[in-house]
Order: sequence, then C-alpha cells, then structure tokens
Amino acid sequence: MSKFTMKEKKINVIGAGNMSYAVISGLINSNYNKELITVCAPSVDNNSDIIKSFGIKHSNNNICYSDQADILILAVKPQSIISVCKDLSKINLSKKIIISLLAGINIKTLTNLLKQNNNNIIRIMPNISIAVNHGIIAIYAVSEINNDSINFTKNLFSKMGIIYQLNNENDIDLFTVIVGSSPAYFLFFMEKIQKKIESMGINKCDAYNIVLNTINGITHLSKSDYNNTFNKLRKLISSKKGITESAISVFKKNNISSIISHAIDESMNRIEDLKNNIKA
Ligand SMILES: NC(=O)c1ccc[n+]([C@@H]2O[C@H](COP(=O)([O-])OP(=O)(O)OC[C@H]3O[C@@H](n4cnc5c(N)ncnc54)[C@H](OP(=O)(O)O)[C@@H]3O)[C@@H](O)[C@H]2O)c1
Repeated sequence: MSKFTMKEKKINVIGAGNMSYAVISGLINSNYNKELITVCAPSVDNNSDIIKSFGIKHSNNNICYSDQADILILAVKPQSIISVCKDLSKINLSKKIIISLLAGINIKTLTNLLKQNNNNIIRIMPNISIAVNHGIIAIYAVSEINNDSINFTKNLFSKMGIIYQLNNENDIDLFTVIVGSSPAYFLFFMEKIQKKIESMGINKCDAYNIVLNTINGITHLSKSDYNNTFNKLRKLISSKKGITESAISVFKKNNISSIISHAIDESMNRIEDLKNNIKA
C-alpha cells in the first residue's frame, strides 16, 4: 500500500467560514503547498476573507474540487451537512479521506448521509488556535480505518497543535466543549475585564494589551512551574485577606464554580439537541 506523502495530497475544504479559515491558515503556516488547497461554499468569492488572505482556488459548487481532491475537510455548520453530503454522494469517495470537524454529527450519520461505505471518515475536534499552530485537536476514527489515513491526518494536524487521539467517539462531545468552545469562555472573561478597565479610565488599546499580557505572563509562569494545577500559582497572588483575595471572594460568593459547571453542562446538552435534530 502506498504511503501518503503530505505534499502530494489535494485537500478540498467544504465551507469557507471561521473554522475553514483556521484550518487553511494552519495548513499554510505548516508550509503545506497552497496550490493543493481548494475551498468551496455557496457564497465564497474573491471578496471573501478566506480568498483575500490565502488566494486559493475556490468554487461555489461542492462537487468539482471534491472530485479532484484526495482529502475532503468538512467544515460547515451541522445544519448544512445534509445538503453537503447529498452533493458528495454523487462522487466516488472510496479512495478519499473525509475529515469532519462538525460537532455532534457522528461517523454513522455521515456514512448514512454519504450513502457510500467508507471506512476513511475521521472526526476531528480542533479549536480556533490551529490558525496559528497553537491549537488542540482531538481525533477519532473507527478501529477498522486504514492506518495510512489516520497517520496522514495525525501528521497533518500535529503541525497545528497538540493531538489527542480518542478511542471512543462519544469523547468527541467532551472535546467539543472543552477544546472547541472553551477559548470563547476565556475570551468572554477577557472581554469583560477589558470593559471594566476601560470604564476605570484606561484607553481601549492599553486595556486590551494589559489583558493580553496578563494572560501571556501567567501562561508562561504556569508552564515554568508545571505541576498540573493552576491553584498554586493563583494562591501565590491571592494571599489571605489581601486585595486580590477580596475579588476572588466575590467570585466565590457568587458561586462561579457552579456557573462554570452549569455552562459546560448546557453545552453538552446542546450537542445532544444537535444529534437529535440531524438524523440520517
Ligand atoms: N467555530 C469553532 O470554534 C469550531 C470549533 C470546532 C469545530 N467547529 C465546527 O466547525 C463547523 C463550522 O463552524 P464555523 O464556525 O466555521 O461556521 P461558519 O463560520 O458559519 O461557516 C460555515 C460555512 O459553511 C458554508 N456552507 C453552508 N452551506 C453549505 C453548503 N451546502 N455547501 C458548502 N458550504 C456550505 C457557509 O457558506 P455560506 O456563508 O456561503 O453559506 C460558510 O462558509 C461547525 O460544524 C462546528 O461544529 C467549530
């Protein structure tokens, strides 16, 4: 069996939104030949951000570049997958690797929608930071999958961040919430702190940089004193009866732990809704 040579594989990305942008950015930053990358979506054109940024070939038709590609990356909203699979079912998929980054749509559903027996469907759950090659990517494939396909996928995405290979498809849901969504939780917090700093008289640019550099600093500190917990470092800053502790005590009084837990549970429930809404 021939080995996949990364530089030779044609990749067609279906969908031209946020995650497609992140994937293509990550690929190009990993020195993947951009001549081998194409993208398709109903309204993608020369004015789309993705085309202005990367100048890759694009189409409003899902079939043409998919037919020519070795790898198809599905990056549409779950609601659009039925129509995408209807298009893809018209081409021979048997020799292609299909990589889906859709939340909540399992391999069985995809196989049924594609109407073809295909053991080369791989699910990944990346986060937006793959765009700058600092992402986290969970990967799941059925055990019968061709080894070359899974190795190719792991190799491709390992350039964009840290890989977690999962043995159980249900764990993709967990990674959707903790890997895919969680950057937004931190950004939400950062956004609120920036707003508060601005309201205290600091200009927008300084407020932004203060928040950014705070995160950057504690990330470096946490890495240098790595013992699998953030608690120790946090306690160094918030000594008993101190100024910082007075702020932390407000979070505690308002039960922020339970709010975080509730928010994550709500996301998990939303995945179940998605699964129930899209059945092949
Ligand atoms: N956002 C994240 O951080 C994140 C993280 C991990 C996984 N995901 C998963 O990534 C997927 C995409 O999310 P996103 O945030 O990138 O969504 P998005 O920004 O809304 O992009 C969706 C894209 O799909 C295109 N599309 C719609 N119908 C299509 C069709 N029939 N054929 C081809 N393309 C079609 C849209 O094109 P038009 O605009 O032309 O309609 C748009 O370019 C979701 O399934 C989500 O679960 C997202």
